[in-house]
Amino acid sequence: MSNVSNQTNIKILISAEQIAKRIETLADEIVADAPSDLLIVVILKGSFVFAADLVRELERKGASAQVDFVSLSSYDVGKVSRGPVKVIHDLSEDVTGRAVLIVDDILESGRTLEFARETMFQRQAESVKTCLLLDKPTQRKVDIQADYVGFTIDPQFVVGYGLDFAKRYRGLPYIGALGSD
Ligand code: IMP
Ligand code: MG
Repeated sequence: MSNVSNQTNIKILISAEQIAKRIETLADEIVADAPSDLLIVVILKGSFVFAADLVRELERKGASAQVDFVSLSSYDVGKVSRGPVKVIHDLSEDVTGRAVLIVDDILESGRTLEFARETMFQRQAESVKTCLLLDKPTQRKVDIQADYVGFTIDPQFVVGYGLDFAKRYRGLPYIGALGSD
């Protein structure tokens, strides 16, 4: 899309309507595979808006999941991911024997998702699936793919719908590309 928002230097890439439609079909895909006792592990902070919409859509479709949160970070204040991934706040649920669905905002290098996935398996989750709102496949540094992907995008820095740049823009209702000037 070519719309420019009233925030300078942010071009709307994916509108709120497009996001809502895609979440409906993503929820269909997840429900088709999901066991009844799903534990959704939301990776904070970037995926809080996506997760809020996704869990409500899953509930509407009859998948009543439990939800827990983990805060992970591999970023300083900037646009470049710097490993290693750190746990800032851990889950409160025990994942032993659970069918886990990890929900995150965006898959870039893959380090965050790999860390989250490995951690769930180390803690004896029975199964681990992954749902990512956005995928930048050309930026991958580790060999990992998500089970469910909302949108595949070009390698550009995006904000909005939960995603930040330097802790700003998380409340934008759409996903936008942040300009450099
Ligand atoms: P990865 O570990 O390199 O795959 O990075 C994943 C994490 O980096 C995401 O969960 C986001 O928090 C952050 N991230 C990656 N790309 C972007 C972006 O374009 N905008 C905002 N955050 C991003
Ligand atoms: Mg994140």
